[in-house]
Amino acid sequence: MAEQLISTADHDTLPGNYVRPESQRPRLADVVVDASIPVIDLSNSDHADLVSQVAVACHSHGFFQVVNHGVPVELTLSMLAVAHEFFRLPAEEKAKLYSDDPAKKIRLSTSFNVRKETVHNWRDYLRLHCYPLDRFVPEWPANPPSFREIVSTYCKEIRELGFRLYGAISESLGLEHDYIKKVLGEQEQHMAVNFYPKCPEPELTFGLPAHTDPNALTILLMDQQVTGLQVFKEGKWIAVNPQPNALVINIGDQLQALSNGRYKSVWHRAVVNSDKPRMSVASFLCPCNDVLIGPAQKLTADGSPAVYRNYTYDEYYKKFWSRNLDQEHCLELFRT
Ligand code: OGA
Ligand code: NI
Repeated sequence: MAEQLISTADHDTLPGNYVRPESQRPRLADVVVDASIPVIDLSNSDHADLVSQVAVACHSHGFFQVVNHGVPVELTLSMLAVAHEFFRLPAEEKAKLYSDDPAKKIRLSTSFNVRKETVHNWRDYLRLHCYPLDRFVPEWPANPPSFREIVSTYCKEIRELGFRLYGAISESLGLEHDYIKKVLGEQEQHMAVNFYPKCPEPELTFGLPAHTDPNALTILLMDQQVTGLQVFKEGKWIAVNPQPNALVINIGDQLQALSNGRYKSVWHRAVVNSDKPRMSVASFLCPCNDVLIGPAQKLTADGSPAVYRNYTYDEYYKKFWSRNLDQEHCLELFRT
């Protein structure tokens, strides 16, 4: 129900169905705030150096920030601004777009999977399918009036960046430059515009609990001022401190499978705070639904056993949405 949206009203107290049991709380005092994830400058003219930085980052963290990434900074700022405007629309306007059916391609929703979960998350989100644009844009929100134009331009730029990164990631695995792009087929592209309102009790709940991304590659545009993303590394949660004008890249489950487990789709989560709302825009590059995914042959040719069986993305994605976010890694269900 649209009344469940949390961006439509101010909250003085945290409703009981957002309160995590004591053992599952974020324990904010234990978060490492002075470490960070690798930062890679994509304007590096030493290609071999760039590829080797990508290899290290994908292997060690599964997460990195990119700077000088080619997506115009003004466009990222307009994207964030229009996202804020969207969540400020009147409740009646937002109610028209509300759905909690994960199968719907365009929907405004809340938490993660309200039909399945027992404890909710302090997040509203707008989910959009973004490729091919001419097919989906007519179904996107018509308000704010500049939404469709800004978001489509942003989506095109992000797709280009994603494909550039695929080239570097393929090479970093010793595969041909266009291996990943080819093997994933005609990629879908989805977007989650995540809005985390100010939360009265951030110690008791999450914006998004620990999860891995089910797709191939995620490109995240974050609020520059308000932090909240944390990445799991060696038993600790590390806060991601946004670099000016950076985008955050993470390896999704499909690239973990394709790399035969060499690169990790790492657990991450979003926490909330009581001072300021936070926005993030996640772009997900997803394999074509009927393409067969599995470890690249070249990576098992030396006799290393394939860690994962082959499956279609369709099978994977259905499995992912049928579960709760904070269960075991979904890829575990696809081991050989
Ligand atoms: C996601 C995600 C993190 C954030 O949307 O999958 O991990 O900081 N978002 O909003
Ligand atoms: Ni995520």
